[in-house]
Amino acid sequence: MSDKKIIKKSWAEPFKIKVVEPIKMTTKKEREKAAKEAGYNTFLLKSEDVYIDLLTDSGTNAMSDYQWAGMMLGDEAYAGSRNFYHLESKVAEYYGMPYFVPTHQGRAAEHIISQILIKQGDYVPGNMYFTTTRLHQELAGATFVDVIIDEAHVPEIEHPFKGNIDLKKLDKLVKEVGASKIAYISMAGPVNMAGGQPFSMKNLQEVFEFAKKHKIRLWMDATRAVENAYFIKLREKGYSKKTIREILFEMMGYFEGIWVSAKKDLMVNIGGILATKDKYVFEEARNMVVVYEGLHTYGGLAGRDMEAMARGIEEMVDFDTIHARIGQVEYFGQKLEEYGIPIVKPIGGHAVFLDAKKFLPHIPQDNFPAQTLATEIYINSGVRSMERGIVSAGRDPKTGNHHYPKLELVRLTLPRRVYTQAHIDVAVESIAEVFENRDSIKGLRMVYEPKYLRFFQARFEKLK
Ligand code: F0G
Repeated sequence: MSDKKIIKKSWAEPFKIKVVEPIKMTTKKEREKAAKEAGYNTFLLKSEDVYIDLLTDSGTNAMSDYQWAGMMLGDEAYAGSRNFYHLESKVAEYYGMPYFVPTHQGRAAEHIISQILIKQGDYVPGNMYFTTTRLHQELAGATFVDVIIDEAHVPEIEHPFKGNIDLKKLDKLVKEVGASKIAYISMAGPVNMAGGQPFSMKNLQEVFEFAKKHKIRLWMDATRAVENAYFIKLREKGYSKKTIREILFEMMGYFEGIWVSAKKDLMVNIGGILATKDKYVFEEARNMVVVYEGLHTYGGLAGRDMEAMARGIEEMVDFDTIHARIGQVEYFGQKLEEYGIPIVKPIGGHAVFLDAKKFLPHIPQDNFPAQTLATEIYINSGVRSMERGIVSAGRDPKTGNHHYPKLELVRLTLPRRVYTQAHIDVAVESIAEVFENRDSIKGLRMVYEPKYLRFFQARFEKLK
């Protein structure tokens, strides 16, 4: 054997910890009780009964000292807060959208834009659905049509841009219903429900040309656009030397407008953005926001929240910050793979997704394999995850039948700047233990189902 040392190149986070929040350790017996009381739905657990919370990266991020310092500079005027103008200028500078309306979170912006752009009987094609996005499109009278590439529905296919739109599917829809019936193309990236999968700039350019030719609006759910920009830098030819900020700006150049849940990329706890280049749409949105959210210079937010968002925009495009964020997700996924645990490939931007169909092949989709798996992981160790399968997919509004999504997943989502590598190791070991005992796991039965976004509030019982 050579005595040469193996040189490993590790990276670490570009920050250190200044404040800590203690978390409660629980026993298995306590967790069994908590899970039962929560109707075996991780959304209904009390946060204090959770050890490592990988439910979501939404609003669960750690803000920087720069953002916290900004919170003290909140101008809480009802009208014309200086923090609004600061945020407006950052939205224009980094997203390239001159017209901006603040909202309290992403779905509020989705509601407003859906009501403005959609007429009863319209169609909205998109690269796979997101729960709240599709619901607001449907409530406004549209039919959502999934036009993502087929590869996105197959967990084990290693396509670098599984979030791409299939132009043939888009063309087919336009031929069938006519361009005038398409309210807008709804493009998201990385695609949450597909496993945090990005689209390529090339695909975006093609979609843009198509939309221009047919005079169809092109809008983006830019909630995690920075993560998409990072993947473009890493994976797409011609982008390795560009900065994240440049790639983001170029991407935004193709869209007429965006909606953003600021609770993700911007590393804040609350906030939403509706921004556009279209003055008419802006004027409509600015008028609607006063009905549903608050005056157009605060949109349901405090001045201090808008200041934290403005500062978050500056921080989100920092390469080392996004590199550490996605690097941690990758570390998590790789560790799970070492145990042979089935996950969605490639590993996504904000989360690792377990393939519950493969993990629990003996549980039929009607008995909610992903919901079951999320429950079992929580009971094993107190790690909280989220179902992203048949429960999340809901029902077809026309037929009332379950949607049966091809992907039946459990999402383990990493909040930004919150957990250490040791937390990840503990989560991996817990999931590995559940995997070892998978044959003894039985499915669930739904005993309560709310009308909208059922995954948030549905209740289950264990099958005997
Ligand atoms: N669009 C995407 C892609 C999202 O992931 C979310 C929220 C929204 C819109 C809605 O934004 O929550 O601020 O109203 N996703 C969270 C999640 C809930 O856990 O993935 P919101």
